[in-house]
Amino acid sequence: MDFKILGPIEVRTSLGRPIALGRRKQRVLLAALLLNVGKAIPSRRMLDWLWGERAPATAESNLYTYISALRKVLGSPSRIEAGSQGYMLRVTPGEVDVTLFEDLAAQGQLALSAGRHDVALERLTRALCLWRGESVLEELPLPAPLRCEAARLERLRASVVDASLEARLALGQHGEMLADLEALTHRDPLNERLRAQLMLALYRSGRRADALTVYQSARMTLAVEVGIDPGPDLVRMHQRILADDPALTPPPAVAARRAPAELPSGSAAFTGRTAELSRLRTRLTAASGTTAISAITGAAGVGKSALAVHVAHQVAGRFPDGRLYVDLHGSTPGVAPLHPADVLARLLRSLGDDTAAGPGGRLDVDEAAARFRSLTDGRHLLLLLDNARDAAQVRPLLPASPTCHVLVTARRTLTSLDGASHHRLGVMAEDETATLLGRLIGEERVAAEQRAARAIVRLCAGLPLAIRIAAARLIARPGLSLRVLADRLAVEEHRLSELQADDQAVRACFMMSYRSLDAESSRLFRLLSLLGGAVISVVAAAALADRPEPRTADLLDRLTEAQLLEVCGHDRYRMHDLIRLFARERAREEDTEEDQAQALRRARPGVWASPAYMTVRS
Ligand SMILES: Nc1ncnc2c1ncn2[C@@H]1O[C@H](COP(=O)(O)OP(=O)(O)OP(=O)(O)O)[C@@H](O)[C@H]1O
Ligand SMILES: [Mg+2]
Repeated sequence: MDFKILGPIEVRTSLGRPIALGRRKQRVLLAALLLNVGKAIPSRRMLDWLWGERAPATAESNLYTYISALRKVLGSPSRIEAGSQGYMLRVTPGEVDVTLFEDLAAQGQLALSAGRHDVALERLTRALCLWRGESVLEELPLPAPLRCEAARLERLRASVVDASLEARLALGQHGEMLADLEALTHRDPLNERLRAQLMLALYRSGRRADALTVYQSARMTLAVEVGIDPGPDLVRMHQRILADDPALTPPPAVAARRAPAELPSGSAAFTGRTAELSRLRTRLTAASGTTAISAITGAAGVGKSALAVHVAHQVAGRFPDGRLYVDLHGSTPGVAPLHPADVLARLLRSLGDDTAAGPGGRLDVDEAAARFRSLTDGRHLLLLLDNARDAAQVRPLLPASPTCHVLVTARRTLTSLDGASHHRLGVMAEDETATLLGRLIGEERVAAEQRAARAIVRLCAGLPLAIRIAAARLIARPGLSLRVLADRLAVEEHRLSELQADDQAVRACFMMSYRSLDAESSRLFRLLSLLGGAVISVVAAAALADRPEPRTADLLDRLTEAQLLEVCGHDRYRMHDLIRLFARERAREEDTEEDQAQALRRARPGVWASPAYMTVRS
């Protein structure tokens, strides 16, 4: 919901529908609650505000009627809490224009005093845009204490206007701001600060005589209207202009510093994932009290990075201060994962801090992380940490400001990342991968061999990586029929060696996950492939590995963590088809035939196991 009082009072639903707030006293009551967000108002004070000294005998019951009427229009769960201290409005900071305004005003003032004029101007302008009228709660008669609070906000607005003019002058925008300054001076002729800013802008625009005339007119107005002389600041500005003080020289117009826009280009063929995109978008655009972290985890090649990059582009407009991107190489075959110190040095450089790393020297991680947090404070930044190895690699890279959002992708579940929302990405639906295949190789080719196309889609088992690899082969060989590829893929033993193109080797992806396992888990992983495609129970796995069940359950959890298995029920696991093929290939390479046969006999007593059996499709 949106609650607005910077102008006429207005409340809208999250879909933007205005809500009728009812009679005048009811609106004053809501106004009182909105001017006191976060505070409880005792009912005695409320009665006083609504009726003053002349409260009728029915005032108290009328107050309850208004409260319950407001509760009704504001919907459930109830927005008005009645506690022992009084009534309080339940809202989140992003729902109320006053809270947003005060927050942006404070950020802007802070940036201005730190000399970050571009950031200051952006914040202050956004703060001023929240005002829909000249005064707080326009047209609503307010009791004196509430009028006082409204007047405080109006004074704050005036100081924000003043600060934004100062930022514009510092950014060399004197020419463009003349019209605004003239209009403001016209409306507030006794404001000496505005006059001084107008004089400076005119002087810097090469209009020295006009600047001096503004002084004379200010002097006259002050004398006639209030009988005083100009104050020392205005007098000083006049003298400096007369003396052509070199310090008044305009700063070179500062081209607005370009916000880092580091996201890799999204894939033009990106397909499906509607529900996941919508969930992530909601999370990335919601206001929150802390840095929002969204972690996308899932098996190798399932499309985590593609999804993250796609959604990041969709919400980029919400992060005007920049979109930062780092591939942490947590799972790239043959590439060492990036060290947090190196990542921080890079991020600091992206934000304009070139002192981050001395030549060849590595910054102390804690120091660099602290500097990164200072630099990101109050900025609306999106940070995409792609392909993380684990939570430890990510933790030092997290900003601390609620204005920043972090998206992380990783194969392992990052459960120890405090406060993160976890999104587990499964394989794509069959119709989505079919659409993807069509987009990649062309609809005509699919239309010409529909059955074979469906077979390829099925064989790639929802893994976009596999579809892309299969498509890459078809694109590279326009003469290759879909049927031939489908037939080749259908021969399980051939599936992995067929699915290789460029650097996108499915095997290399899986190999990386596999190599990270300890010897006991990797042995179980290989043996599990012997069970075929069925659901894996702890009992069967324990028999296969010849280990006690609790120990086996541990090992299965480790494989699940490495995304080589999926949980599909209590004590039930499933292995992705392509991963199972890979595991079977590893078993053939690394275990003797006798080992495999024995394992299978333990798991399936009565079945005569042989390498021949193992190659039969399950
Ligand atoms: N929804 C999608 N539409 C089209 N292509 C996709 C989609 N999802 C993934 N892909 C493609 O599939 C391939 C693998 O995806 P991606 O690199 O995102 O996987 P990943 O889960 O990040 O893998 P890894 O665990 O290796 O980091 C890429 O070529 C990517 O472009
Ligand atoms: Mg990835």
